[in-house]
Amino acid sequence: MTKSAEANAKASGTFRLGGDIEVNRLGFGAMRITGEGIWGEPGDRDEALRVLKRLPKLGVNFIDTADAYGPDVSEDLLREALHPYNGLVIATKGGQVRNGPGVWVPLGRPEYLRQCVLMSLRRLGVERIDLWQLHRIDPKVDRDEQFAVIAEMQQEGLIRHVGLSEVSVEEIRAAQRHFKVASVQNLYNLVTRQSEEVLNFCEVENIGFIPWYPLASGSLAQPGSVLDEVATKLGASPSQVALAWVLKRSPVMLPIPGTSKVSHLEENIAAAALELSDEDFSALDEVGRQESERQQAA
Ligand SMILES: NC(=O)c1ccc[n+]([C@@H]2O[C@H](COP(=O)([O-])OP(=O)(O)OC[C@H]3O[C@@H](n4cnc5c(N)ncnc54)[C@H](OP(=O)(O)O)[C@@H]3O)[C@@H](O)[C@H]2O)c1
Repeated sequence: MTKSAEANAKASGTFRLGGDIEVNRLGFGAMRITGEGIWGEPGDRDEALRVLKRLPKLGVNFIDTADAYGPDVSEDLLREALHPYNGLVIATKGGQVRNGPGVWVPLGRPEYLRQCVLMSLRRLGVERIDLWQLHRIDPKVDRDEQFAVIAEMQQEGLIRHVGLSEVSVEEIRAAQRHFKVASVQNLYNLVTRQSEEVLNFCEVENIGFIPWYPLASGSLAQPGSVLDEVATKLGASPSQVALAWVLKRSPVMLPIPGTSKVSHLEENIAAAALELSDEDFSALDEVGRQESERQQAA
C-alpha cells in the first residue's frame, strides 16, 4: 500500500469552484459517517469524529455532505468536529426527504428547498453555504420552479455557489438559464462510465465534476487483472489506483471518497500522490470502459 504517513490532498492539485473558491481536488465525502442505510448515528461515533478531525491535517479542504445523510447526523458531526471550519469548504445538498434507512425521496417544492437551505445553515452554523447542491431534480415539480427558488436564495446571499446532482447535459443547460452551475455530482468511477458526456461538458464549461462512489473497481480488482498488475507495480492498493485514475481523467475532477475509518482515510488520501503513466492510464481506461459496458448490458 502506498505510504500514508506523508499523505496530503495537496498533491492532487487544485480547482477553483465557481471560479473563486480554491480547493485541493481530492476531497472527502461525509455520507459514511452515519449509521447503516445512511440512517442515524454512526456505529463508532468517536472514530467518525477522529476521521473528521484528521481531514485538515491531511490537506483535505473540500468536504461533501447532505442534509439527508442521517438525516442531519453528518452535518451535525461536521459542526461538532470542525466548526468554524477555518478555510474548509463544506458543500451540502438538499431536496430529498428520508423516511427510513436506504429510502431517498426527491422533494423539490420551492418551499421545501428553502427549508432545506435554512436548516443546513443552522445545523452547520454558517451564514452562507459555499456550495449548495440540489440532490435530485424532483420529476414531479416543474424544474424551472426548483431552479428559480435556488437562484433567489443565491441572490439573497444564503448560498454562494450552486451545484447539481445526477443530471444530464440537457438538465445542466436548463439550470444554467437560472444560475451559474459550479459543480455536478454524478455516479462515476473507473468501471461506471455512463456520465462521460456530462464529464466532457463540465470540462468545457469549467464546472467541477464530483464523482460519487469513486473507489469502485468492480471485478477489475481481482488478482491478475490489469488493475491488480498496475497496483502491484506501484506498491499501491487497487482502490488507490482506481482513485488515481479518476484524478488523472480530468482537471475538473473532484473525487470525494468517503469512509468511517481513519486508516482508510489515510490510505485514500495517499492516492493523491500516486502517478499513473500514460500507458497505465490508457490500459485501465480500456478495461474500465469494457467492464462498464458489460455491466450496462447485464
Ligand atoms: N449525489 C449523490 O447522489 C451521492 C450518492 C452517493 C454518495 N454521494 C457522495 O459521494 C461520497 C462517496 O460515495 P460512496 O461513499 O458511495 O463511495 P466511496 O467513497 O467510493 O466508497 C465508500 C465505501 O468504501 C469503503 N472504503 C473507503 N475507503 C476504503 C479503503 N481504503 N479500503 C477499503 N474500503 C474503503 C467505505 O467503508 P469504510 O467506512 O469501512 O471505510 C464505504 O463502504 C459520499 O460520501 C457522499 O458524499 C453522493
